[in-house]
Amino acid sequence: MFKSAARSFSTSPAAAYKVAVLGAGGGIGQPLSLLMKLNHKVTDLALYDLRGAPGVAADVSHVPTNSTVKGYEPEGLEEALTGSDVIVIPAGVPRKPGMTRDDLFNTNASIVRDLAKAAADYAPNAAVCIISNPVNSTVPIVAEVFKSKGVYNPKKLFGVTTLDVLRASRFVSEVAGTNPVDEHVTVVGGHSGITIVPLLSQTKHKNLSEETRDALIHRIQFGGDEVVQAKNGAGSATLSMAQAGARFAGAVLNGLAGEQDVVEPTFVDSPLFKDEGVDFFSSKVTLGVEGVKAIHSLGELSSHEEELVKKAKETLITNIKKGVDFVKQNP
Ligand code: NAD
Ligand code: LMR
Repeated sequence: MFKSAARSFSTSPAAAYKVAVLGAGGGIGQPLSLLMKLNHKVTDLALYDLRGAPGVAADVSHVPTNSTVKGYEPEGLEEALTGSDVIVIPAGVPRKPGMTRDDLFNTNASIVRDLAKAAADYAPNAAVCIISNPVNSTVPIVAEVFKSKGVYNPKKLFGVTTLDVLRASRFVSEVAGTNPVDEHVTVVGGHSGITIVPLLSQTKHKNLSEETRDALIHRIQFGGDEVVQAKNGAGSATLSMAQAGARFAGAVLNGLAGEQDVVEPTFVDSPLFKDEGVDFFSSKVTLGVEGVKAIHSLGELSSHEEELVKKAKETLITNIKKGVDFVKQNP
């Protein structure tokens, strides 16, 4: 109560935010919840899962930062969401070896649809960050649900592609023998296989041999498979994803708080290729007090990258349509 009263009379953005994590009991959800507890902009952390969230909340709540943490099971979803400024969704099943992210669609589409319905009802103004795969389809699912409820705000819906950005920094640094902290790679397109397009020509490593370049791009595109195979049936990336999710949610909070020049690549409702039928696309986005402040164009591409983007767009059109059709057929 106090927070919303203070915010409505304030002319500058508030520095106190409620964040809800849906799927907080899972492999990503648990470390992500810990990392959000460490974010000083978060004053209220709501951890929701079908099971286990109260335990995670009790555990995380002992970390001495200035926020309250509460865990919720299904009957508490409304309370968990109400008043949220940012909702992060890692709920859903992960891959096993031999599966593509698209193979998760049948299970995760309805999970995401139902959580989106609740978010539309109880926190229609929140910024919603989707981690659940397949991101290329789950983000359009959320958009369709919000549209059907008359509360769609394209500035506040994000597919989290930050793990591709993290991997690109790391893998480039391994090839170039540099510190990954100094490697900034823009990754555009979507979040699966060939829809992941790292723009290496825009880094200081534009003169790699074709063989090295192609191997690097392939590793960034299929980095998720490395983890799925190594975990051998026990799931996919969780710890690196928690770091990526916390970085992205932190950037959204920085934008909401009015900080300047907050830029992250993310999969959003984008004008860049709408005339070609690609309604969502990941590119660098400046984050601001309203969510998306500016969507950056891709900048100068090599002819090879032009070709990769072309292929990515073809797959994205299919992935996006699958999400949209799912909600139309299963409202
Ligand atoms: P996990 O199985 O460890 O955890 C998922 C959690 O979601 C579980 O605790 C489960 O109880 C919960 N859940 C399921 N249905 C729910 C519902 N209706 N409401 C609330 N909670 C629900 O899986 P994980 O390893 O944490 O992965 C979660 C998802 O994130 C997967 O779909 C995975 O593919 C995806 N992922 C995305 C990225 C990315 O870069 N965007 C990276 C890694 C994983
Ligand atoms: C990743 O990129 O690690 C995630 O999307 C999980 C997966 O299935 O690979």
